[in-house]
Amino acid sequence: MSLAEKQNKFEQLKEKICKCQKCALAATRLNVVFGEGSIYSSLLLIGEAPGANEDEAGKPFCGRAGKILDELLAKAGMKRDDVYIANILKCRPPGNRNPKDEEIRACNDNLDQQINLIKPKVIGCLGNFSTKWVMEKFGLGNKVQGISKIHGQVFIASASQDSVKIVPLYHPAVVVYNANTFPALEKDFNMLKNIPR
Ligand code: URA
Repeated sequence: MSLAEKQNKFEQLKEKICKCQKCALAATRLNVVFGEGSIYSSLLLIGEAPGANEDEAGKPFCGRAGKILDELLAKAGMKRDDVYIANILKCRPPGNRNPKDEEIRACNDNLDQQINLIKPKVIGCLGNFSTKWVMEKFGLGNKVQGISKIHGQVFIASASQDSVKIVPLYHPAVVVYNANTFPALEKDFNMLKNIPR
């Protein structure tokens, strides 16, 4: 697929997802948070779900957790434009509650299609929800453990001929509640940047 074709398909997908009515979150959202960054990047970061700031702006990670994410990227020598950032859910769960199973199921296809078009070589999973979703998608469900046990490990999944490296990471929001987790995230992001791809 040419770069222009890929761009075109991605725009069409965005248009479709921005009209999504597959779950109840469509009724309470202000904006669909489709994702942002370079669709040509080999590194895809996947978070959990938009919060209030993201819902308002229609962009992922633009609140407090987003500032921490930017800092982690910068410390590892990366910018937002060097990666693509998406979420498991494209719409905000009211009150920032955890995503429900049925919401995750309804949104599955949206993220699946983004991954199939971007074809990342490395996926950084931000937090437990993302880690579980991604590892199950790539047939590694039996390796899922709590994020404090498996953050920073590299899991290799083979989807057809293309292998994908999956790296569970703490969610940047944990730093808001526990600043002591920042060094672990910093170390993991440095490692992520240097994974051969
Ligand atoms: N937390 C997430 O997981 N995603 C966002 O976009 C913002 C905060």
